Formats: sequence, C-alpha cells, structure tokens
Amino acid sequence: MDMAQFLQKLVALGMILSVATVLLQGVAEGSNKPRPFKKHHLRYYVQVEMGAPGLAISAQPINTTISANFGQFTMFAFNATKSQSRTSTPLGFIRGYTIETSYVSGDMHLLEVEFLEYNHGRYNGTIQYQGAVTSQGTELAIVGGSGSFRGLKGYLVVTFSSSNPPFSTFRHDVTILK
Ligand SMILES: *[C@@H]1O[C@H](CO)[C@@H](O)[C@H](O)[C@H]1NC(C)=O
Ligand SMILES: *[C@@H]1O[C@H](CO)[C@@H](O)[C@H](O)[C@H]1NC(C)=O
Ligand SMILES: *[C@@H]1O[C@H](CO)[C@@H](O)[C@H](O)[C@H]1NC(C)=O
Repeated sequence: MDMAQFLQKLVALGMILSVATVLLQGVAEGSNKPRPFKKHHLRYYVQVEMGAPGLAISAQPINTTISANFGQFTMFAFNATKSQSRTSTPLGFIRGYTIETSYVSGDMHLLEVEFLEYNHGRYNGTIQYQGAVTSQGTELAIVGGSGSFRGLKGYLVVTFSSSNPPFSTFRHDVTILK
C-alpha cells in the first residue's frame, strides 16, 4: 500500500466514523428530543366509567348547608382514545382533578387541573390544562406541555359525546395557537 492509498483509506474511515457519530447522536437524542407536534388541531375522546377505581370524590363539600358543594374534590384517571368507541386505538390518559369553587346552590364552577399523557408512536408527551367547568361549557387553557408538546399554546374545548351508563364519552378538541 503506498502513501496515497493509505491516505484514501484513512479519509474513507474518517467519513464512516463521522457518519456513525451522527447516527449515534441521532439515537441518543431521540429520547430527549421527541418529534415536535406541529399541527394546529388535535382531537381525541375521553372514556369515563362511573364506579371505576380511576374516578373518586376524595373530599366532600365543606358544609352543604351554608356553602352548597364548595370544596368538593374529585380525582380522575381516564383513558384517551382515537375515536368515540371505548375500544378504539388507545392514545394515552387524562389525569387530574376538579374542585368546586362555587358556594351557591345549583351553580357549578369547577376548577379543573388535568393533563393529557399522550403516547402514540410519532408523538409522545403531555399537555397541561387548567380552566373552569361550568354548565355553560368547558374551555381549558393549555398552560404548558412536555415531550412532543413542549411550549404549546392554545386551548381545549370539552364536549359531551355519548352516554351508555356506567360509561360516558367526551370529545376533546385542542386548538394550537402559533
Ligand atoms: C381503560 O383501559 C383499560 C385497559 O388499558 C381497560 O381495562 C378499561 O376498561 C378502560 N376503561 C374504559 C372506561 O374504557
Ligand atoms: C354547617 O354550618 C352551619 C351554620 O354555621 C352549622 O350550624 C352546621 O353545624 C355546619 N355543619 C357541619 C357539618 O359542619
Ligand atoms: C414516551 O415518553 C416517556 C417519558 O419520557 C418514555 O418513558 C417512553 O418510553 C416514551 N415512549 C416512546 C414510544 O417513545
């Protein structure tokens, strides 16, 4: 092997090594840098089951005589699915709580704090929500996100979809603002 051939081999080896380094970095960063969610809308369905272990009133109202349901605390962990059917593709979970903040009988002003834990191959992460649940409707603000949803801004509208006791299904329409 003469010097020129040796140098050629060295250059080729160098190129293979740098390609390998790039590939390895790609793999290493894969878990730390999930694919960012770039779409403007996300829709999924939330499956509620009365009596299931993932739904509980964990604190009763403080005093129903003087302040109606004020202080009632409910915790939940529900399945999120791709379509209305409970057996459609699982996308993750909705976990969180509501607290009744109205002390007026017949009024409802729940503070709702919850997050979507989304894991569907291409996108993986959480969307954090906060807002009010009232009889007029439920719109929650996106207050942040993680993984594929880091830095997300926008809002969530919750709509009743169907009921077949003990199951109920709610549709979640997420609008992402740029
Ligand atoms: C939620 O998913 C689990 C399986 O992961 C299933 O056992 C359960 O029945 C589901 N709940 C509802 C309300 O569909
Ligand atoms: C609720 O408040 C009323 C009025 O102050 C009081 O008489 C009653 O004992 C309270 N009930 C409870 C369960 O604390
Ligand atoms: C999704 O993210 C979670 C938390 O970072 C991680 O444990 C899980 O392995 C990820 N799943 C996929 C399919 O990337």
